[in-house]
Amino acid sequence: MSKIYIFDTTLRDGEQVPGCQLTTVEKIEVAKELELLGVDIIEAGFPISSPGDFQSVVEISKAVSAPTICALTRAVQGDIDCAVQALQYAKHKRIHTGIGASDFHILHKFNSTREKILERGVEAVKYAKKFVEDIEFYAEDAGRADNAFLAQMIEAVIAAGATVVNIPDTNGYCLPDQYGAKIKYLMDNVKNIDKAIISVHCHNDLGLATANSIAGVINGARQIECTINGIGERAGNTSLEEVAMVLKTHKSLGHHTDINSKKIYALSGMVSRLMRMPVQPNKAIVGKNAFAHSSGIHQDGVLKHRENYEIINPDDVGVFESSIILTARSGRAAIKHRLEKLGYNLETINIDEFYERFLVFADEKKDNVNDQDLVMLMGGTDDNISSKGIKVTLVQVVCGEPLRPMATVKLKINEVEHEASASGNGPVDAAIKAIDEILNKKIKIEEFVIQAITGGSNDVSKVNMQVNYNSQLYYGFGISTDIVVASVNAYIDAVNKVI
Ligand code: KIV
Ligand code: ZN
Repeated sequence: MSKIYIFDTTLRDGEQVPGCQLTTVEKIEVAKELELLGVDIIEAGFPISSPGDFQSVVEISKAVSAPTICALTRAVQGDIDCAVQALQYAKHKRIHTGIGASDFHILHKFNSTREKILERGVEAVKYAKKFVEDIEFYAEDAGRADNAFLAQMIEAVIAAGATVVNIPDTNGYCLPDQYGAKIKYLMDNVKNIDKAIISVHCHNDLGLATANSIAGVINGARQIECTINGIGERAGNTSLEEVAMVLKTHKSLGHHTDINSKKIYALSGMVSRLMRMPVQPNKAIVGKNAFAHSSGIHQDGVLKHRENYEIINPDDVGVFESSIILTARSGRAAIKHRLEKLGYNLETINIDEFYERFLVFADEKKDNVNDQDLVMLMGGTDDNISSKGIKVTLVQVVCGEPLRPMATVKLKINEVEHEASASGNGPVDAAIKAIDEILNKKIKIEEFVIQAITGGSNDVSKVNMQVNYNSQLYYGFGISTDIVVASVNAYIDAVNKVI
């Protein structure tokens, strides 16, 4: 098994997306998580581009020690000087310099010639090498470059000191076999190629970034440049989670990465939240539906044996379990599974009769049937589920500007009333903290969704909550015209299933 280096550029190429800019503190948070994820190189920014980017490279270099910290430059001495400064605190540092390699870029971007561009590339590498040992050279738009010229350029920059050569498909143009053949051509025609690592950097304009990166690896590349959730300019970059899981799933390729895949899902959520960039529901590996099954045949198959319809164990990427989405296409197996999760005793339910009612409702709703709908169909309220559980007898909050929100909650547990007060960053947070004080259990909210029903200010809120206790997920929901009460009810509903 040979190792494939994972070069994460979420904080550079990923962060170039308009509207996705992070503060330095947020970048440090992401960088620390990338370190825990096990990436080998973090491209922390393009220091000459702005004082903020410069500062981020400085601070990430201080905060993170295991991965190599990389800074991007153009083939310009001022850029390189700036990158050297920004990397001064990095334990392991790399400068990533380069220039256009396609005739298109040479002519229409640089208004130059192949010879002059090659010379500039070589000069940049030689200059950067005076300060930093680890130099990566990028041949921009290599995807559309002439292979013979590209090989000449790569040979020259390796001779000048480049330790890694990046062959970007900058415009996401190549087909997998073309890109793979390009890497093979370099492996076969660059005399000193054994002195450097070939890196693949693919964009996703045709949805081929992952396929192209893997084609590159199959043909000799040893480093993949990628981003969390595949974020990046236009259609994005190669997504880290996809290439990591392709290599893990297809062991026959003979490669491995140091990625701790169990951390993927949480980091995907963090990047999505911080960058305000939602993950598309059908996104491979990290999309909300990546492990969700909605048709009756698939649900039944998954419940019988997960691998009937899942090639990746959700647990391997940090997703606790596959989800069974209830729709009009769901079968009895899925409904029984869900009712059981909600705490119902199946022995007391006529499933056939319930299923008929479920189908009529699901057809009318034309959307997923959620837990609250099931409870309603069961003809009850939350009390039906856990009549012996904890009861909320009082919720009182004080909030508003400039007060720190405070909540007092009373719970009846085994007929004994308990009371606690707490403050929080909002009234819901304060109320949940007060409950936690009474319960004294390590319960973590994983998902918290508030939905309005009619849209007016007198609306009824539905709260769906997912909590984690001892690595098991429990669902709860609550409904009220008071958003805090609905949230408290949802939390207690989930807690009742825990206990
Ligand atoms: O896509 C690209 O060519 C790049 C280079 C700057 C490495 O991001
Ligand atoms: Zn790029």
